[in-house]
Amino acid sequence: MATESTKSDTAPIKLYSREEVAKHTDTSDLWVIINRKVYNLSAFLSEHPGGEEIIIEQAGQDATEPFEDIGHSSDARQMMEPYKIGELEDADVTEENVMLHEDNSSSCSGSWRSWLIPIALGALATLVYRYFIKAH
Ligand code: HEM
Repeated sequence: MATESTKSDTAPIKLYSREEVAKHTDTSDLWVIINRKVYNLSAFLSEHPGGEEIIIEQAGQDATEPFEDIGHSSDARQMMEPYKIGELEDADVTEENVMLHEDNSSSCSGSWRSWLIPIALGALATLVYRYFIKAH
């Protein structure tokens, strides 16, 4: 079974920034982002069962929300594969898709403790010091 990581016999996945995708808004070169994947939908516009206009409105943008809101069928999800030209760069993770990276967030939840403990110790040391000065 071929996986995405087996790239030796397939072309490497192209990575694009949101800025790059945003430049392609012409109907003859129309890109959209859906679920972090980048599609060139120019050739698909006239075939779209939902009409051209709705896709043109999303030109150069992240259309994940409207695409999912409509509840596209699994047929629709297969139809889009040939139009995929690449994926979003990892640095282009926004709040919408950070949920995909939840596994990495354990280090974040630990980070507040790493600065809270020194501050608490510092405050404690100050109190002890003041008490010591006052006591003498
Ligand atoms: C490559 C991308 C897309 C493909 C292959 C695709 C495919 C389809 C297909 C096959 C249908 C018929 C219903 C179904 O089978 O789900 C459909 C309907 C529709 N699509 Fe898309 N679509 C794409 C992108 C989009 C985007 C980006 C939007 C909105 C921003 C959109 C909005 C709609 C709407 C409004 C309908 C009509 C739903 C209805 O009449 O009930 N589609 N699409």
